[in-house]
Amino acid sequence: MLIRKPADIRPSEITTKESYLSRRNFMKAAALAGGSLVAGEALPAIIPEARRAKLEGVVPSEYSTDETPNSYTDVTTYNNYYEFGVRKEDPYQNSQEFEPHPWSIEVTGNAEKTGTFALEDFVKPYTLEERIYRLRCVEAWSMVIPWVGISLADVIKQFKPLSSAKYVVFETLHDAKRMPGQRSRSLRWPYVEGLTIAEATNPLPILAVGVYGEVLPNQNGAPIRLIVPWKYGFKSIKGIVKIHFSETRPRTSWELAAPHEYGFYANVNPEVSHPRWSQARERRIGSEQGGGLQSLFSAAKQPTVMFNGYGEHVAHLYDGLDLRKNF
Ligand code: MTE
Repeated sequence: MLIRKPADIRPSEITTKESYLSRRNFMKAAALAGGSLVAGEALPAIIPEARRAKLEGVVPSEYSTDETPNSYTDVTTYNNYYEFGVRKEDPYQNSQEFEPHPWSIEVTGNAEKTGTFALEDFVKPYTLEERIYRLRCVEAWSMVIPWVGISLADVIKQFKPLSSAKYVVFETLHDAKRMPGQRSRSLRWPYVEGLTIAEATNPLPILAVGVYGEVLPNQNGAPIRLIVPWKYGFKSIKGIVKIHFSETRPRTSWELAAPHEYGFYANVNPEVSHPRWSQARERRIGSEQGGGLQSLFSAAKQPTVMFNGYGEHVAHLYDGLDLRKNF
């Protein structure tokens, strides 16, 4: 994965930290704040209004962090989604033509129930929860994002995996006509990710269908993507079309690209450096912490926390496993 130096940060990424507000309140707040939000906040206007539908019936989650979420601009303009290009601004710039409907999800493999489901039917049985999670990217930056999604564990139970199902494998849409980044060989397509069955049935992972109370923007993985908050961001696969219950461990996209750099487990771990950089600290995208350019480069750096702070929920999954070898 590409990594950028603080010197590369564009002024548009230095945005005011707005609290979680409805779109209308947010626009009002932006107007009241005069020019101060404008540089950053003008950008999301390129997401067509029709795609910014509000999600109804969303309930708060006990698993949410109380940290202040990143701005809508941070969340929707600083992305990794190689299917739309390798630079951080590529996903929002190149994904606006992408039409994520109709969409279906194929469930295959070692489970009692399998089949192909329209997205709406797939999501309908479950409660939509808002889960404000820290997302820690392997490139040593992080954000706090108010996702809206359904519990992956609830979904998995519904399909009744057989005891032979040891892993859950996810695949992104493979369609180079609709995803221009797939015309290059930046990764092997389709993007593949996987979890052990124990990880997938832990209460933390969600299949996200929204962010900031609205449907998921294309650049964030519309219409449905995985969020696994204790792992590096690359595990949180976007644009999912297939879920497979497998006996064997999949070879995931980043493992195939660079096996010495990106492991299958990919648990956030300050003690295991990436071969080309340390994971001990991270930069909070857009963090102002007192304001001013100076603080962006100093105070915004913070120590990385084991399992991204979710250890109480997940550390037991790795009892007896050497996390230096199984990175
Ligand atoms: N999923 C697919 N299909 N393709 C990708 O390139 N990038 C991953 C992950 N999911 C990626 C993906 C990486 S490296 C990160 S950090 C997160 O998405 C970023 O999610 P966000 O852009 O919504 O913050």
